[in-house]
Amino acid sequence: MSEVSRRHFLKLGACVVGGACAADALPSLGQAADNGDVTTLRTTLPYPRLKLAAIGQLTTEHELLTTYPDQASPVVLVKLGRPAHNGVGPDRDIVAFSRRCSHMGGALAFRAETGTFHCPLHYAMFDARKGGLMVIGQATDNLPQIELEVDTTGDIYAVGVKGLLYGRQANMLA
Ligand code: FES
Repeated sequence: MSEVSRRHFLKLGACVVGGACAADALPSLGQAADNGDVTTLRTTLPYPRLKLAAIGQLTTEHELLTTYPDQASPVVLVKLGRPAHNGVGPDRDIVAFSRRCSHMGGALAFRAETGTFHCPLHYAMFDARKGGLMVIGQATDNLPQIELEVDTTGDIYAVGVKGLLYGRQANMLA
């Protein structure tokens, strides 16, 4: 913790314990967040706009493995062949998800015939057509879905993440 954020933390703690908050304590925390000192106070993350593939590279037989929003976040891009929740492309059937199970981070495998992701550790199953909905298993969260956009040339870009990536306090490592 930096010296500045430590000072803000102690100041806020004193306010909460004492029950009387100095008028400038919370505004100064806000200023620190604006300056980038306290990144955990952000309500939105500065996701990169990152090209993942071109539409022509995808088929219903093969998924495309990549990472987003950083190198430590494995992601899979799939063409389902049927319209999907938040799907992009002319058939609204292209979606992308984190490849880490929301239960304990197992490496998920995709089954094209059912359009589902399967975890080898405790057998959770997630539905790619329904925004990563957990169908069965011990996870308590759905699978984080990557927000996609397609430009006029048919390039597919990742622009954000819906849901918290497994093992993270925030979706981006900073
Ligand atoms: S880690 Fe996937 S079900 Fe437990």
